[in-house]
Amino acid sequence: MSAGELRLLLLLLVALRARAGVGSSPAAAGLGLQVGFYRATCPVAEDVVLAEMRMILEEDRTLAPSLLRMHYHDCFVQGCDGSIMLRSRSGKGERDATPNRSMRGYDAIGRIKARLEAVCPLTVSCADIIAMAARDAVYLSKGPWYDVETGRRDGDVSVAMYAENDLAPPDSNIVDVKTFFSVKSLNAKDIAVLFGCHSIGTSHCGAFQKRLYNFTGRMDQDPSLDARYAEKLKKLCAPGHGHGHGHGAGGAKVPMDPGSGFTFDLSYYRHVLTTGGLFQSDGSLRDDPVTRGYVEKLANASSPDEYFADFAAAMVKMGRTDVLTGRLGEVRPTCDNLVD
Ligand code: HEM
Repeated sequence: MSAGELRLLLLLLVALRARAGVGSSPAAAGLGLQVGFYRATCPVAEDVVLAEMRMILEEDRTLAPSLLRMHYHDCFVQGCDGSIMLRSRSGKGERDATPNRSMRGYDAIGRIKARLEAVCPLTVSCADIIAMAARDAVYLSKGPWYDVETGRRDGDVSVAMYAENDLAPPDSNIVDVKTFFSVKSLNAKDIAVLFGCHSIGTSHCGAFQKRLYNFTGRMDQDPSLDARYAEKLKKLCAPGHGHGHGHGAGGAKVPMDPGSGFTFDLSYYRHVLTTGGLFQSDGSLRDDPVTRGYVEKLANASSPDEYFADFAAAMVKMGRTDVLTGRLGEVRPTCDNLVD
């Protein structure tokens, strides 16, 4: 099957799941979540997570972007249910899926969970820990503080194929991106806002190599990528590391927002507007009137205030995706259990 046929099949699957009602259950609207869910049962929960996150990031600041990304990858695959943490005996779990091969931070979540189990046994879910860690990662990278809704419970199913199907690849165009995100009830503005996550962190060369060396199979370069930026990327990414499909764990790493890769700020939007961004999916924000308008506005904004407010709202919205609450799911003593 060709790459084009495979993509069509994936989009069809995504659309069919949407029509079948995945994402439209009451839980999908975030019912059962609330700010301060642990106020009575574990009042120190959020303080413990923040204190631990401070220590984790002091030891390795590159884990801030990784833990932010983990919340996105958890929420988009069967909902924010902590299932990304599960380990699979068969080697066919979420962690094994292509987009997650470059995921980091599992031990950090395990470490926070162990702290919480010591003070409030069997109380705080792994899904909530991931959501709180993502908020703290942004805050500790000079981004906004926002109120995280909690009350999620954990799932016990982990299937690599779900992650392959539900996470858009980096060579997605804006039509693909809108399809993947609309299935999770996220609109064009949410996309433009959430893509600002790429303001911090790095990517392996394999995820965008194709844009530099073999865009259409004729050893050509992506014409939408700024030529000077492409030259810089070529110096960092020698040819031959991965082929750009999948989410590329191959090769060296480069910052996604050069010059500002540890600070959560607006420079990502300036970067996308002027260079086309690191991934085709980043650059695709320029190809839709709503997302382009947002990118232009933020690239020229004199203060991050509006963006920070939008970001908080979009993260809360993403954090409601297909959650398990009430009697659904479980709270288990460890996050990285072995499943089939
Ligand atoms: C179409 C949507 C998206 C695509 C195709 C995409 C793709 C990618 C890829 C390929 C990487 C590099 C991974 C590596 O090589 O190590 C990455 C990193 C990252 N992504 Fe995304 N992403 C998308 C949306 C998002 C969203 C919505 C968020 C946050 C809510 C996010 C947060 C991050 C962060 C923070 C990193 C840096 C990770 C690190 O430094 O370890 N991404 N993304």
